[in-house]
Amino acid sequence: MVQTTQVAIIGAGPAGLMLGRLLELQGIDSVILESRSREYCEARIRAGILEPGTRRTLIEAGVGERMAREGILHGGVHLRFYGEDHYIPVDELAGTEPLTIYGQTEVVKDLINARIAGGAPLLFEAEDVTVHELSSDAPLVRYSHGGQEHQLRCRVIAGCDGFHGVCRQSIPSEAQQTWQREYPFAWLGIMAEIFTPEDELIYAINERGFALRSMRSRQLSRLYIQVEPDEDIANWPDVRIWEELHARLATPGWSLPEGPVIEKGITPMRSFVAAPMRHGSLFLAGDAAHIVPPTGAKGLNLAISDVSTLARALCALLKDGDATLSDSYSHDCLRRVWRAQHFSWWMTQMLHRDPNDDAYGRELQRSQLQYVCSSPAARRSLAENYVGLEL
Ligand code: APR
Ligand code: PHB
Repeated sequence: MVQTTQVAIIGAGPAGLMLGRLLELQGIDSVILESRSREYCEARIRAGILEPGTRRTLIEAGVGERMAREGILHGGVHLRFYGEDHYIPVDELAGTEPLTIYGQTEVVKDLINARIAGGAPLLFEAEDVTVHELSSDAPLVRYSHGGQEHQLRCRVIAGCDGFHGVCRQSIPSEAQQTWQREYPFAWLGIMAEIFTPEDELIYAINERGFALRSMRSRQLSRLYIQVEPDEDIANWPDVRIWEELHARLATPGWSLPEGPVIEKGITPMRSFVAAPMRHGSLFLAGDAAHIVPPTGAKGLNLAISDVSTLARALCALLKDGDATLSDSYSHDCLRRVWRAQHFSWWMTQMLHRDPNDDAYGRELQRSQLQYVCSSPAARRSLAENYVGLEL
């Protein structure tokens, strides 16, 4: 039997779930198909910094209540290089609300709960998803679930299935252009039970490389260090990780408290953009269309901004038959995508020790850090990008 819906959403990460939510609020039906289990999606650890616009979108969509209660407001960052500390009050400099520290994992849990409470279809462990007839107004999705094969006929497919998903790969290569950059390092991240009274992040670099102190709550810290791109986590017992964190984050009069490490893993660093973000009746959103290195925490914010734009476009298309916004969807998103691409690349190259760099490059990097911390114009530029463009 062929099922029908207005929008078939592939992927239940923040992009797919938020799109489903925004469409539901507009009375548009959707089915979300996710290849992993609910437990897996709710346990996956990702970044946790929400721009003011992302916070507002979650609240307006009625899924921000726990975030507003439990999230920590975060108004600035410390840039710490070679032991020298500089504080950048990003909200004040950009003239915006502060950011919010609230894990992507928690955003995903809240969106899944809201979807299930509303009774709209969300299928976990949907296997072998494939998308067809993309140049028609009635594309088809095939998948299997519970050992049975299914077909889903719809008006639009939303490819929210992340970087490794099937949707982008279903677009003929001649119909899409891609840009990418790989970095000669990765991040090793740990979650540690440490009480942190401060609410600011510390981005640090010295001759041993990059380190970041972030958090998920007052009781839970998230810490990262730059490592080799192909590093094996087995080479990093906790004691070695703490030694590097202390050495890289050190500054006079401040020391990093230690606590039990409850999770650790390695994140690769990559920049990637595919455009256009639409092919016929398939629209890509979030990591399916673009990836940024994690420095600056733009990934989740970009995913939410893409689907806000997409929800408006699909509303006009499916309710009023007006294709203007869906025709400009890719163009409208890419402006913000490229700004975040540049910012994430810029933060990454300014804050990491590149093994291929020479002594000249390292002096340029140090000069750039000094300038960013001391020039009011440069501080403000960092702040504007860190809080994100207006939605
Ligand atoms: N079929 C169905 N679901 C799939 C498939 C498939 N073939 N392939 C992938 N998925 C699912 C993944 O299991 C995942 O749950 O699509 C979802 C994509 O979610 P994310 O990777 O979280 O991507 P997105 O929703 O765009 O959110 C972007 O996530 O990776 C971070 O840093 C990134 O913060 C950013 C955010
Ligand atoms: C995180 O908390 O995981 C985090 C914070 C800031 C970043 C990247 C990741 O720039």
